[in-house]
Amino acid sequence: MSEANDATDQPTSEKLVELAKRRGYFFQSSGAYGGVGGFYTFGPQGASLKGNVEDAWRDRFAVAEGNMEIDAPTIMPEPVFEASGHLEGFDDMLIECPECGESSRADHVVEDNTEYEDAESLPIPEVEEVIAEYELVCPACGAGLAGQAVETFNLMFDTNIGPGDSQPGYLRPETAQGIFVEFPRLKEYARNQLPFGVTQIGRAYRNEISPRRSIIRTREFTQAELEYFVDPEEDEPPLERVEDVEVRLYPVSEQNDEDGAEIETTIGAAVEEGIIGDAWVAYFLGIAKPWYEAVGVDMDRFRFRQHLSGERAHYAADCWDAESEIDGNWIEMAGFANRTDYDLSKHEEYSEDRFTVFKQYDEPKTVERATVDPDMSFLGPEFGGAAQDVVAELEALAERDRSAFEGDSVEIELEGETHELPVEKTGFSVDEETIAGEHVTPHVIEPSFGVDRVVYTVLHHAYSEDEVDGEERTYLELDPEVAPTFVGVFPLQSDDELEAVANDVVDDLREAGLSITYDDSGNIGRRYRRQDEVGTPFCVTIDYETVEAEETTVTVRERDSTDQKRLSVDDLAETLAAIRNGDREFEAL
Ligand code: GAP
Repeated sequence: MSEANDATDQPTSEKLVELAKRRGYFFQSSGAYGGVGGFYTFGPQGASLKGNVEDAWRDRFAVAEGNMEIDAPTIMPEPVFEASGHLEGFDDMLIECPECGESSRADHVVEDNTEYEDAESLPIPEVEEVIAEYELVCPACGAGLAGQAVETFNLMFDTNIGPGDSQPGYLRPETAQGIFVEFPRLKEYARNQLPFGVTQIGRAYRNEISPRRSIIRTREFTQAELEYFVDPEEDEPPLERVEDVEVRLYPVSEQNDEDGAEIETTIGAAVEEGIIGDAWVAYFLGIAKPWYEAVGVDMDRFRFRQHLSGERAHYAADCWDAESEIDGNWIEMAGFANRTDYDLSKHEEYSEDRFTVFKQYDEPKTVERATVDPDMSFLGPEFGGAAQDVVAELEALAERDRSAFEGDSVEIELEGETHELPVEKTGFSVDEETIAGEHVTPHVIEPSFGVDRVVYTVLHHAYSEDEVDGEERTYLELDPEVAPTFVGVFPLQSDDELEAVANDVVDDLREAGLSITYDDSGNIGRRYRRQDEVGTPFCVTIDYETVEAEETTVTVRERDSTDQKRLSVDDLAETLAAIRNGDREFEAL
């Protein structure tokens, strides 16, 4: 990163948003119609950078880990979200301004204007009290918000599937549900063997109350999620692969301590010392840290922070966020949660399919099983149409608590009423049975990445300013792995001979698999500046020496140092491809 980075007082975010629009990274969508908050279009450079980040994620979290990838629909029917709990609990706190009608997130109003850092975890009455106590005001018009009711607002976008309103549906608020609902089929593809992982990169939708900070909080965004299904009794992560990875951690204990601080440690030590309680979560943090580094996140501005208990999602037992520092604030780029068996158990309960894996024992086992065989000639007259419900209750009770059948009578609950039955009429017995295995509900470990926030962080951390030949320069110090273009090719002037060589160079470099931009407009300095601003690592200029000298050579200029070297055209493609793959270094040429 250039030392001259952030040379002016204007925050980098503001300069970046301006550059992003000018150079085709991202801009607010539907501008011709006034634009609408929370929706962004990635321009040619942005779409390419985002695609490269997604490819890098796929390589690491799907391919290298041997996980499957799927691509599920973004609209799902209502029962899915009844089961997942999103219909009931996927809410934010909404406060409406009594003067201008502007809707704001009540917890953000509190966090932005008081010392509270985690207002999301406070109960609503307490948020209302804080707003009154601090006399907080509407961020839009400055009118007082004290006394205004804070309400819950469900973040899901709803729609109707097909004509009419008989089948309500929702745009998925997380890609994860598309994986969970297909578990009965996916486990077959995994040959019913735990552990296994399923990834998905795709759009998620949240009707955010106050989308903000450009692509950091939007209403439509891309997630890259891995749902890793494990046997909670048996499966252990291969921690030895990541135990030496160095990490900066900010656990709950340090956050709650007035003098608390981030801890620099390794994944292995953090697990051994109980700083990270869940070894699976630790394993994925250990994979994620070098991945973020490889795509260009500045490791001096990166940490993992554990969720405070009130902050955790309704499904999570433990959760750590990957956070990046942006203009002095930490933003969440990903969450690493242990979702336990919450989702699969819920879908098993609400759907008609099985969300378990049959675990075969090495040797069949003999077990005792409590069963009932009720006397229907007794239950029929006694319970009429409800007799089958009584049978189901007795079966469940026998499995749950066989001691309930120890006396002469047994009690069951049916629609809120208690009924007493003679045990002899239930046909209760305990028999020995040989079983080959058991049905296990897997637990889910979930690394969930926000792709847009990675793109934003990479751009923000790459944003640099310096002075070249007495002129101020802005450049993006993007890693070659993600930069939209690897080489800009320029003929020095509009000249048939120079252009012919330049076109040959373009063909050669493209054939070597490099992404190329050809630019023949404006003076050479302007062309360098353009490529610097989009973060192109190298520029190749074809000049008169190229066509006049005995050996055909070109000038290759490196973005960050602006150093130039003359290289032979014959091995240009091979050399640049080697640099792209990390096998050679420009300085050493
Ligand atoms: N399946 C788990 C899940 O969705 P989350 O913490 O709500 O967890 C995961 O979201 C990631 O998605 C976040 O860490 C963030 O990077 C990204 N994300 C969430 N809401 C977003 C929004 N409104 N705009 C952009 N990215 C968002």
